[in-house]
Amino acid sequence: MSAPRVFGQSLPRLRLVPRQPSRSIAQHARCYSKLSATPRLAVPLPYSRLAAAQPASSSPPSHPRHFSTTPAVSHGHIDPPRPGEELYVTFIDKEGLETKVAVSKGDNLLDIAQANDLEMEGACGGSCACSTCHVIVTDQDLYDKMPEPDDDENDMLDLAFGLTETSRLGCQVHMTPELNGLKVKLPAMTRNLQESDFK
Ligand code: FES
Repeated sequence: MSAPRVFGQSLPRLRLVPRQPSRSIAQHARCYSKLSATPRLAVPLPYSRLAAAQPASSSPPSHPRHFSTTPAVSHGHIDPPRPGEELYVTFIDKEGLETKVAVSKGDNLLDIAQANDLEMEGACGGSCACSTCHVIVTDQDLYDKMPEPDDDENDMLDLAFGLTETSRLGCQVHMTPELNGLKVKLPAMTRNLQESDFK
């Protein structure tokens, strides 16, 4: 078994380790000048400081910026019907006021109502995800000529306020020659779904 080493015995060995020569002030200065000569990273300035740093100039920029615009798309846009191809639909508002409109084949009741500033909300933009475009068809015969509502429409109709046997969602009803002369009533209230309705 080897004899235990006394702490002091290792000290001479430690002293043998050659010391690193410390940098002189001149070496530090050389290193610093090299660093300051290297290109610096571009740090974006806040706009307020950037504007202040720009020289004031009254001449227009050499490359003027161009702006382009896109026509706004709004719901409720419909083209007027071609002469001789008009179909007629009448809306009856909550006060019983009738508005008869000439429309084209294929237009849906939501677009027609909105294009004529009638009170039909269309909260989901016609994607069959609300019931705010609920209308009541006044004529049973014309109601029967409409294509059957699909499952999505039926689901939304179940949530409509004041549902009747001839209720439809306006955004899902497209005008056809068979529906010429259609009359629809806007319900007294619509129900816009809240998050809480699904809890
Ligand atoms: S606009 Fe939402 S279902 Fe018709």
